[in-house]
Amino acid sequence: MASRTDTSITIDIPLTRESPDLLNAQITGGLLGCPKTLPSKLFYDEHGSTLFEQICELPEYYQTRTEHQLLTRWADEIVSLTGAEELVELGSGAATKTRVLLDAMTKAEQLRYYVPFDVDETIVRRVSEELIQEYPGLQIHGVVGDFLVHLEHIPEGGKRLVVILGGTIGNLSMQAAKEFLTAVNSEMASGDFFLLGLQLIADRERMEAAYNDTQGITAKFNKNIIRVLGNTFGSEIDPELFDHVARYNEKDHRIEMWLRSRQDQTFTIPEWGLSVALKQGEEIRTEISTKYDQPLTDQLLADSGFEMVKWYADADNLIGLALAQKP
Ligand code: SAH
Ligand code: AVI
Repeated sequence: MASRTDTSITIDIPLTRESPDLLNAQITGGLLGCPKTLPSKLFYDEHGSTLFEQICELPEYYQTRTEHQLLTRWADEIVSLTGAEELVELGSGAATKTRVLLDAMTKAEQLRYYVPFDVDETIVRRVSEELIQEYPGLQIHGVVGDFLVHLEHIPEGGKRLVVILGGTIGNLSMQAAKEFLTAVNSEMASGDFFLLGLQLIADRERMEAAYNDTQGITAKFNKNIIRVLGNTFGSEIDPELFDHVARYNEKDHRIEMWLRSRQDQTFTIPEWGLSVALKQGEEIRTEISTKYDQPLTDQLLADSGFEMVKWYADADNLIGLALAQKP
C-alpha cells in the first residue's frame, strides 16, 4: 500500500517503472500464441480513450447508458449501505458514471477521497483536474498503472468502496477475472465494499451490433492497438492493412474482437527482434468481452473471497451491478 499526502491531487505512476521485459513478454507471448492475441490494455492511449468515450455515446452501445441509469436509480442506497468515504475505481477512464456515486456521497456528506486507477495517464490527469473543480475539498490520489500488476499502489484508506464499472471485468477470461478479484480482495480491509458492473448475456444480435456500429468507431478503436504498437514500440505495420471483426462466442458467452489481415504481411518490432508472419485472412484477437448472469457473478465473487450484499439489474437484464463486501 502506498502512503497518502495532503495535497489535493497526487498522481502515482508505477506504469513508467513497469519492466519493459514484462510488456515484451506479454506482447511477444500473445503474438506467438495460438490464436494470436494482443493485450487489450494497449487500446488505451489518449486517442484510444477518446474513441472509447465516443463508443459510449453510440446508439448501438446500450451498455453505458443502461449502467448510468441503474447507478442513478440505486446510488443513494449503495452509498448508504456502504457508508464509504473513499471511492477507489479500477479502470476509471473518463469517470462519467462515477459522478453519480460521487454526487450521492456528497449528498450523504461522506465524500473524502477518490482514487482513479487507469493505464492511460492522460485520462487520469484529465479526470483528476476536472473532479477537483467539481467537488471542492475532494482529495484525489490517481494511480497510472496496470491493475493486473500494480494494485499495491492503491493508497491506504478509510471506509472504502472499490468499484469496477463499464463491464471492464469482462475483458478478462473468467479464470483471470477470478485471480484479479482475489488480488483486489487482498488489497481491501475487512468490511470494505466492492461494486462490480457486469454486462449480462443478452440477445446475440443486440450484443454483436454493439461492437459493429454503423459509424465505424469500434473499428477505429480496434485498429488503434496497431497505432499504439507503432508509436510506443516502433512496430512497422499499417493499421489499415487489417479489417475489424467482432462476433459472439456462445460457448464462452463473450464477444471477441479480432483484427483480420487483409494480405500476407510481417509484423515486426525491431527493437525486440520480433517478427511475426501473418497470412491473408489470419486474425489476431484483441479483446474478449465476457457477458455474465447473476449465478456466474455470485460464483465469481464467492471464489474471490467476497460476500454478496445486493444484486441490481435493469428491467431488460442487460446490465448487472453486484454490491459485495469483504468479510
Ligand atoms: N470505467 C469506465 C471506463 C471503462 S473502459 C466506464 O465505465 O466507462 C476500460 C478502462 O480500463 C479504460 O479506461 C482503460 O484504460 C482501463 N484499463 C484497461 N486495461 C487496464 C489495465 N490492465 N490496468 C488499468 N487500467 C486498464
Ligand atoms: C471497456 N470494455 C468493457 C468495453 C467492452 O464492451 O468490452 C470495451 C469495448 N470494446 C469495444 N467496444 C467497447
